[in-house]
Amino acid sequence: MEITVKAGTRTYPVIVERGLTDRLAEALAPYAAGRKVAVVTDDNVAKLWLPRLLAALPEGTPVYTLPHGENSKNWETAGKIVEWLAANKLTRTDIVAAFGGGVVGDITGFAASVYMRGIDYVQIPTTLLAGIDSSVGGKTAVDLSAGKNLAGRIYPPAAVLFDPDILSTLPPTEWKCGIGEAVKYAVLAGGEIFDIMEDDLKKGDNLERLVALCVDYKRRVVEADENEAGERRLLNLGHTIGHAIEAESGLGFPHGVCVAMGIAVIARACIRGGLLGKDDYLRIMSLLQKYGFPECPYSVRAMLPRLAHDKKLTDGTLKAVVIRSVGNCEIKEMSLDEAEKFLV
Ligand code: GLY
Repeated sequence: MEITVKAGTRTYPVIVERGLTDRLAEALAPYAAGRKVAVVTDDNVAKLWLPRLLAALPEGTPVYTLPHGENSKNWETAGKIVEWLAANKLTRTDIVAAFGGGVVGDITGFAASVYMRGIDYVQIPTTLLAGIDSSVGGKTAVDLSAGKNLAGRIYPPAAVLFDPDILSTLPPTEWKCGIGEAVKYAVLAGGEIFDIMEDDLKKGDNLERLVALCVDYKRRVVEADENEAGERRLLNLGHTIGHAIEAESGLGFPHGVCVAMGIAVIARACIRGGLLGKDDYLRIMSLLQKYGFPECPYSVRAMLPRLAHDKKLTDGTLKAVVIRSVGNCEIKEMSLDEAEKFLV
């Protein structure tokens, strides 16, 4: 399935197709023909899948392999990638392939956005989280010591090529991380996404269909608001609390798991505040339970100081995403005092 994202800064295809890893030469041809390709990946993906990508590219294609994990997503590593692009003599018309999960996609996109003031890159996601969320929409970033994703740009890829079959080797933690983001889409969009999540992801074409539906939901949001001035903030459902949990745990809980815990905290606040009905609340909580997400182990009161430092805070106001029903969420501006009353 091909979904075309017509964003303000660029129009690009997202191709979601089982078995695409075996057809990468053909899939990459429109972007790679006549250009040098440089590949950025991580050590886990390199061990499992890199030979398949390299088989589709000319001999001698340069590869930069990061240590896997969030700790690689920093300024220093981005600098090393940019230097490496220069050392390999990539020109403005060449292209970088980001072959990995969210960390690889974010940092590669960021490096591509600054190298020679911006060269093309393609996203070839290898995790569920990257396939349904981070590879689409053009957000690129590195983390700073003051917080996650604090330096970055909106710089969309030339294309996203996702093979759901590549998830066959995804470790359980990474899988759960992607499910956390998928729960977000299920609550935001409701309908078939929620139904598939309640059903069996391994059944028939469920997984491929879920990915395509999440990408299409994100396409619609990004087309309306690429720079996150309004509607795109909906995609932060569960994230403000999720980031606080992530920080409180010293990155001990993975991102998608924190998002799922954040959604539970918000759902509870919404039913308490009379915004969300009991049936939908129970439906959301049983979905989270079905996938074995833990309860948030921290008191919301203890995490409140972290909300005051959230990068999405403007003029002391939080843009909280609240749940009115499954498939109907909205952005509610709250002062920190109001957020405290709402959440605690
Ligand atoms: N991951 C949320 C967004 O792309 O806006």
